[in-house]
Amino acid sequence: MSLVILGAPGSGKGTQAVRIAESRSLKHISTGDLLREAVAAGTPLGKQVESILTSGKLVSDEIVLELIREAVKSDAGRVEKGWILDGYPRTTAQAEALETVLGQIGQKIDSVLVLDVDNEAIVERLSNRRTCESCKAVYNLINKAPKVDGKCDQCGGALMQRDDDKPETIRKRLDVYEQQTRPIIEFYEGKYTVHHVNGMLPIDEVTVEIERLVGE
Ligand code: AP5
Repeated sequence: MSLVILGAPGSGKGTQAVRIAESRSLKHISTGDLLREAVAAGTPLGKQVESILTSGKLVSDEIVLELIREAVKSDAGRVEKGWILDGYPRTTAQAEALETVLGQIGQKIDSVLVLDVDNEAIVERLSNRRTCESCKAVYNLINKAPKVDGKCDQCGGALMQRDDDKPETIRKRLDVYEQQTRPIIEFYEGKYTVHHVNGMLPIDEVTVEIERLVGE
């Protein structure tokens, strides 16, 4: 099974992608995570993209395509069971490039999931998001707080706030989503099954709905 999960920043793509990947043995491919890992490791790519991530703008289509090409190719054992793409594609050019890459390796998208969430809820979610520095588990100070303040329940790692979760950057990311990413939904509606999911529901209910929609 091969899925694409779309939605505005903070709509819950990462939270749900981790769960669906786990339940369906899919590879979770998040371009945001791959870019942040490159920044944290101080690689040449990381140095090139660091200020772009902090600004809330998009990294170039060429850079992310290279990351995707490597990710769908590598770890062959798991890729055979499929993947869930989170944060990619983000422009129509990326969606078209993905079609080409998948055609070259004989794969296709089974379903596209779109998480619909109000902008007001997004600002609140992102302002209260905390991420584990070590295992990358995602928390929320309001509705998914860690048991011990500032520490990850899973590995004990320190929780931190992402640089791009500041109010002015959140607004920029929402603008970028409206202008550059939302049009992809229409692109996919002409090609694949597109499921709109009410992302305003509690996390567990969103997961149940996605599981139902993607089927066996
Ligand atoms: P990326 O990491 O992809 O960020 P994003 O799309 O802005 O999405 P987020 O990770 O902020 O949110 P999410 O939807 O995953 O929500 P989450 O589950 O964490 O990209 C970051 C940057 O990298 C981009 O700005 C760009 O610069 C660059 N980039 C990445 N991909 C790129 C690409 N393809 N091309 C070019 N540039 C690229 O949830 C958020 C919070 O809400 C959490 O606290 C969570 O606990 C909580 N929450 C989740 N679900 C619910 C719910 N149902 N109810 C209540 N709270 C909830």
